[in-house]
Amino acid sequence: MASSAHQAGAANPGLVLRRPHRYDFTVWLFTRGGERGFREKILDLAKLKPGERVLDVGCGTGTLAIAASKRVGAEVHGLDASVEMLARAESKARRDRAKVAFTEGAAQTLPYADGQFDVVLATLMLHHLPRKDRELCAREMRRVLAPGGRLLVVDFAIAAQGQKGVLAHFHRHGHVKPEALTELLSNAGFSIAESGPVGVSDLHFVLATPS
Ligand SMILES: C[S@@+](CC[C@H](N)C(=O)[O-])C[C@H]1O[C@@H](n2cnc3c(N)ncnc32)[C@H](O)[C@@H]1O
Repeated sequence: MASSAHQAGAANPGLVLRRPHRYDFTVWLFTRGGERGFREKILDLAKLKPGERVLDVGCGTGTLAIAASKRVGAEVHGLDASVEMLARAESKARRDRAKVAFTEGAAQTLPYADGQFDVVLATLMLHHLPRKDRELCAREMRRVLAPGGRLLVVDFAIAAQGQKGVLAHFHRHGHVKPEALTELLSNAGFSIAESGPVGVSDLHFVLATPS
């Protein structure tokens, strides 16, 4: 979602969000107050299991990474290019006593070792990157996944343009066509395991494994 964004500099192309409270309010509107159920649904799609090593790329204000840490019962990593979003993520994790290591960084050059994670999550974030940077990000997510690991991508299948109402006022997002997502991940060295609608708005998911 690109509710309060500006373009980052050349070192970090992407739509980096700077207004975390506004973002959380937008998600609250988008999920009609049901964000917890929405996040749990995403973790179900990722088939997250206790003990798995998890990275959330473009973690925003950290809600998904926090929920993931509770499910795996271990420390989860969350990365975002926005210090403002990460500051709110850290305060939410402290409040929830969740074990999440938040890092400021770019999705195109992940600061993690090869094969460090069992599961990588990227929700509502790929549409924030220009196409070339999506390719870099997809290759990086492939690199940091362990053999047999899983990548879950969730994104809007249709752009928000033309929508009306309160949500539209706060919420103008881009999209990644499902077929473009499949092609992007295949080209980055993934096999598509599952894909389809999330069941919330026009969100689409792809679960992929390193090929
Ligand atoms: C719409 S938010 C999604 C946040 C979270 N994944 C969620 O599901 O709510 C997209 C996030 O991607 C971050 N972002 C944009 N470009 C980025 C980049 N190049 N590297 C890392 N994060 C980036 C933004 O700052 C923002 O927090």
